[in-house]
Formats: sequence, structure tokens, C-alpha cells
Amino acid sequence: MTTFHLPNAETYLAEYDRLADSLGVPHRAPAPGEVEFLREVTVRERFPFSMMTGAELFFAGGVASLLAPRLAIEIGTASGFSAAVLGKVIAMRAHESGRPLTGPLLHTIDLKTEDKRATTQPIGYAIAQVTPELQSQIVVHPLRDSTYARELVRGDELTLAFVDGNHQHPWPLHDVLQLQSLMPSGWILLHDIDLPHFAGDAYTPRFGAKYVFDSWPDKKIGAGNIGAIKLPENRRSLGQLVAHLRELPSEVSPNGWKKRWQEIDALLPRLA
Ligand SMILES: C[S@@+](CC[C@H](N)C(=O)[O-])C[C@H]1O[C@@H](n2cnc3c(N)ncnc32)[C@H](O)[C@@H]1O
Repeated sequence: MTTFHLPNAETYLAEYDRLADSLGVPHRAPAPGEVEFLREVTVRERFPFSMMTGAELFFAGGVASLLAPRLAIEIGTASGFSAAVLGKVIAMRAHESGRPLTGPLLHTIDLKTEDKRATTQPIGYAIAQVTPELQSQIVVHPLRDSTYARELVRGDELTLAFVDGNHQHPWPLHDVLQLQSLMPSGWILLHDIDLPHFAGDAYTPRFGAKYVFDSWPDKKIGAGNIGAIKLPENRRSLGQLVAHLRELPSEVSPNGWKKRWQEIDALLPRLA
């Protein structure tokens, strides 16, 4: 597996071509304004609601910049900070190519209506602060989970997704499987792929994203607690992943476990 450590704009620029190689896309320069934007949003004190480190934001931003999707979907909105950062990078690529921003560029889905981390605010409130010009292009969907993504995608436009919702096994597997069923090809970013290590004693470690990342049957690249997994051309290998992860200990209630596996099993016949 290829790994990255992108703590600042200088390493971002130095590693940008190697990131392109890892993603299997041609070398190109970052979009105009992109590095300045990422430099600004990674100043932690400026955006205290950020739940990602600067190095994670540079990695996720770089993947979005190089893949330049027409549409991306995020699971797990919270403040909307990561949605704003990814949406802005995607918008910069669209702008560079001359493509008019007529519809949504990024949908972000959250099970809740409020983010109660710092102060109680509506889900996605940070989008208006970070990227006020993109409030029609970054669309927030509260009270939904990843099963709702199928209502948002038409054709083959979805080639990048970000899974950062419930990290308890088997939720990340469930979310990845829902999203991949809508993606002809592409990559899924996974946050908290090493939560047990990074959480320390601060809170109960959750293994869901780690299980998916560690056992992923195709190409993957990592940057500490965040990674990206490439969708296999032949999705049958995901059936083996599902069989393997079904054996690992549940981190949700018995009812939640049953429901998630029913939803996962419903997708299995389509893994061809
Ligand atoms: C770690 S936070 C997301 C942080 C956000 N991506 C960022 O970096 O700015 C996780 C969010 O996922 C939401 N969530 C929890 N379970 C979920 C699920 N099953 N589907 C969608 N969202 C979920 C929570 O309400 C919470 O707002």
C-alpha cells in the first residue's frame, strides 16, 4: 500500500504527482487557487469545528482535486466542514474546465438534524461560513443514511465518495456497499481507518472503517487515519470481503446488526 503524509502545502505540492500515480490519473497541476484554499482551511484555529487534521484535509483535497468528479457524496455531515472543503476543490476543477455549476457537486447525508459538538447548530452550518458561494452546489440531507444516496444519483456521474458517518462495525461496510452500487468506477475516501490507534484513551475505539480498509480487496492508499479505496472492476471480490467481515464482532445493537446485514445482503446479488 502506498502511504502519504501531507502536513502542509509544501509537502502537498511535492507529493502531488505521486498521489496522481497512486490514483492512476495523469499528472496535472492543482487547480488555480486550490493550494491557497487548502492552506487557509488547514489553519486549525480559524475553523475550530474541523474534525480532520490538516494532513487529512490535504490528502482528501488532493484526491478530490486529481479525480475531479462531476458529483461526490459524503456520509456524515456534522458541521459540514469536510463537505465544504471537498465541494470547493471540486468546484475549482469545474471552474478551471469551463463547466458551468448548474447542479449539485456534492451531496452530504447525515442521520441527524443538529450538530451538538461545539454549540448546537443545524447539520451543515459550516458550509455557509467556509464556502458561502456554493450553498446551492453542496446539498445537505439530514435525517437520512447512505441508503438515500440512490435517490440522488443519475447515470454514471458519481466517481468519488467519502464515508465518515457511524464508525461502528458494520456501518462503514454498509455505507461503502451502498455507494459503490451507484459508482461505475472511482474511489471512496474512508475516515478513521485507524481510530483505535488515534483515539487513544479518549473514547471507545470503533473498528468499522479499519475492518473495511484493512481487508479491502483492491488498490488502497493511506495517510494516517484516512485512506482511499479503489472500486474493483469486478465487484465479485466484494462478496468475499462481506463474508470475512460478517465474522468480526458487532459494534452495534442486535437489532441494528440485523437491519444493516439485511441491507448489505440485499446488495449481494448485484455484485457481479
Ligand atoms: C465524524 S462526524 C462527520 C464529520 C464531517 N465529515 C467533517 O469532517 O466535518 C459523523 C457524523 O455522522 C453522522 N452519522 C452517524 N451515523 C450515521 C449514519 N448511519 N448515516 C449518516 N450519518 C451518520 C453523525 O450524526 C455525525 O454528524
